[in-house]
Order: sequence, then C-alpha cells, then structure tokens
Amino acid sequence: MPDLIPSQQPSKRLFVQTHGCQMNVYDSSRMVELLEPLGYQLTEEASQADLLLLNSCHIREKASEKLFSELGRWRDLRKDRINQGHGRALIAVAGCVAQAEGQEILRRAPFVDIVVGPQSYPRLAAMVAKAEAGQRALLDTEFPAEPKFDSLPALRSDPTALNPTGNVKNVSAFLAIQEGCDRFCSFCVVPFTRGAEYSRPVADIVREAKQLVAAGARDITLLGQNVNGWHGDDGNARPSSLGRLARILAEIPNLKRIRYMTSHPSDVDMDLIIAHGELPQLMPFLHLPVQSGSDSILAAMNRSHSVADFMRSVDLLRQHRPDMAFSSDFIVGFPGESDADFKATLELVRAVRFAQAYSFKYSPRPGTLAASLPNPVEAHVQDERLQELQALIQELQDGFNDGMVGDTVPVLFEKEGRHSNQIVGKTPWLQPVVVEVADDPDSWIGLERNVTLESRMVYSFKGQMAKATTPEIDLQMVES
Ligand code: 5AD
Ligand code: SF4
Repeated sequence: MPDLIPSQQPSKRLFVQTHGCQMNVYDSSRMVELLEPLGYQLTEEASQADLLLLNSCHIREKASEKLFSELGRWRDLRKDRINQGHGRALIAVAGCVAQAEGQEILRRAPFVDIVVGPQSYPRLAAMVAKAEAGQRALLDTEFPAEPKFDSLPALRSDPTALNPTGNVKNVSAFLAIQEGCDRFCSFCVVPFTRGAEYSRPVADIVREAKQLVAAGARDITLLGQNVNGWHGDDGNARPSSLGRLARILAEIPNLKRIRYMTSHPSDVDMDLIIAHGELPQLMPFLHLPVQSGSDSILAAMNRSHSVADFMRSVDLLRQHRPDMAFSSDFIVGFPGESDADFKATLELVRAVRFAQAYSFKYSPRPGTLAASLPNPVEAHVQDERLQELQALIQELQDGFNDGMVGDTVPVLFEKEGRHSNQIVGKTPWLQPVVVEVADDPDSWIGLERNVTLESRMVYSFKGQMAKATTPEIDLQMVES
C-alpha cells in the first residue's frame, strides 16, 4: 500500500514511452491513472514533461539497449530545460529492465530518479512524491506477497487515461487477467522479470470488462504472459479455465469481440477449443507462438510440446472454427539449430499457413538456461535464416490478405480516417479497413457492419458497406 497519500495538486506534465509487449501498454495506462492524483496529465512532448517515464522491455538485448539510448536523450532534454529556466524534470524507469537490472540502470544512468519493477507499480505514486521532495535514486524491485492487481486501485470509469492520445473513444482495449510465467522456456527472461504465474479472480475481471465496455470498448484483448494458463478463482473457490472465462465475458452486452494473448501451445485445452466453436465473440485469430518447427530445438528450448502437438491444436481449432487464422513467434539461430532444424521450421510455417508471424534472431539473455548452451549459430547464418523465414511469412501473409479481397466480413469501426469522410475499422483478423461514409465518421465509432473488401493496400483494405441482402446480415447489423 502507498505510504504517502497523494493529494490533488495543480497540473504537471507526464510523458510516457512504452517499449515491448501489450502487457507493458496496459501497465503504462495503469501508471498514468496512478499518477493522476498527483496532478500529472499526459503530454506528447517529451521536452514539456515534468516527469519522463520509460516502461522498458528486457526480452532481447536490442530492446534493453534501446532503454539506455533513450535515457541519454532524456538527460540532454533535461539539461536544455534547466538551461531555459524551467524546473528539473524527473526521470523514471519502469518495466522488465528495471526489474532485472535496477542497480545497473542506476550505475550506467545515475541521473535516473526512480527505478520501479512491474510488481511495484502500486507504490509508484509514493515514489514520485518522494522524488518530487528531492530524494534521488529510488529503487523498488520487490516481489511483494500481495499480488499487484489486488493493490492497484480499480480502473477509473473515465477511459481517457487508457488512450494516451486522450480524445478518441477506446473501441479496442486491453485487460490484464494473468501475469508471470512458470514455464521457464530456456531462452526467456519473463519468469525472472514478471515472477510466478498469478491469475486474477473472475469477479475482478468481469468488473473491469464491464467498466471498459461502459466506457466504449467493444473489442477486449485479455492479456497475460501465459494467458491460456489462466486459472482464476470463479467465486466458488475453484480454479477455472480460459474457455470458461470467455463464456462468462461473452454474456456482457455490447462486448462484441474477445481476444487473448499470449498463449502457450501446451495450455490449449479442449474447453478453449470448443469455446472457439461456440462463441461468436471469441475472435477467429489466435497468436500462438511455436518458436521452432524442430522437435529437438523445441526440447532444448524447454517448450514442453512437440511439432505434432502444435499441429493437433491448430487442426482442432480449425475443425471447430473453420475461419480460424494463426499468428506466431519464431526464434531462429537458437544454439545448436542445424540447417535441417531450420528447414523443419519453414515446413511448419507452410503447413500451418500462418496469416502473420513475428520472427527474431536468438539473443542470449542473462540468467537464462540457454545463455550457457554450446554451439552458437554464427551471426551471418542467423541473418540468412531470418531473411528466408521472413520472406516466407510475408508471402503467406500477402496470400492470406489477397484471398480476402471480394469477401464480405464484419468490420468494427474504431477511428476516423486520414480524410474527413473516412472511417477505419478492423476485421476479426485485425486487418484495418478504410471505408468512405456520407455522414459524420465519428458517429460510426464502436459500430460493427458487414463490409465488402474491395482492394488491398499493403496491410489494410479499402472496403464498402455491404448491402443488407439477407435477413442474416440484417440481423447482424442491429445494435444490441
Ligand atoms: N531471443 C530471441 N527472441 C526471444 N523471444 C523471447 N526471448 C527471446 C530471446 N532470448 C521471442 C519469443 C517470444 C517473443 C515475445 O520474443 O519468440 O515469443
Ligand atoms: Fe517466456 Fe516461455 Fe513463459 Fe512465454 S511461456 S513468457 S516464452 S517462459
């Protein structure tokens, strides 16, 4: 619990930069809320800020290094600000680098005022109040006994803090339901930076989901480092499953779309697969990282699933929801990865026909098992493999998108387009669609309509509102 109770104060400006995953995006929005009682309002201008907050990512070396280059820029900004006669800005580092390398940050960047790990956000406001009072080098990277979510204040009903640009309705929103990971994949820092798995209880999740919907959300992505391992208390002191949670959330009026990420293949159970077949709200687009198409590399990665296990889940999901599309993550050049192992990855990518995927060169991370494995893959081989894999993924993604031109699909409108008569929405597969409308584009935000996809731009479509030709389509067009 905070040891300083913040009082309402005049407006100060807060600049937030978020690196890494969606969980960090969610955490940043919660930190913005936590700092509001101290008088902090978001600004998009770092040079104007009284408090600069960087929510950092530790997943790969490149991500960590990005923190230090940004901090260097912020130090110069702060000097300029002082030279111009303005007050001294505070600099705070949050997120996974703060957790893993808190002392190192204070050594390499001694001008940083606050270092706060992801489990310590409930105490952030108190730390900022102390820093404002002149204390320096405040560090909090404890893993407290009390789960973070239980000690964060409930979400505010006004949603603007969830959207750093302030004025757009948040049709899509994130909701963290689970944090931490017990799986210890041999390459991954997450179990060290985010700690053991914790699942929020059903009642808290439903309350937050209803608040988000009341504030305009229509598409909610449930977040967790191992989200389908979620097993929160369902009120009967029983652990539940993600499939069950999806059924409960699907009862919320006006919540049109439910997604979840990031999932582990070993936690895809029959309950979840059946839910995909039965719940129209559960979107047919699943991010399911597989990392490699080689069983021996999967074993060295401590992934606890084989290629065949993964394919079985993909096939079952497609049987229950035929329009299911998949996204994934891949690591190339893991220690010991042979040409044959890499070919097996390419084969898996072709077999699944991923609609989208992210791929990375293996990056050894401090404290992880894989960091001490022999047989590193040479850098130029890593580069070649990454290029080949990314070219294949791009080809499949283009094919997936081209295959949809001419289709009529439900589009949920999220924001105005670049031109004054345009509205932009998303398909169930998260492809952006631009549609021209005759009336005020703003009045379409939050509505879902059937749209015929007319042409593809690079990653988006141009579409036209579909004519309601069948009673079925008419029915879908009625807003509940
Ligand atoms: N090196 C390269 N990629 C990594 N990832 C996680 N750890 C590493 C690492 N040490 C990738 C995985 C994961 C994604 C979020 O980042 O593919 O799914
Ligand atoms: Fe990292 Fe593996 Fe846990 Fe995902 S499942 S967060 S890759 S340890």
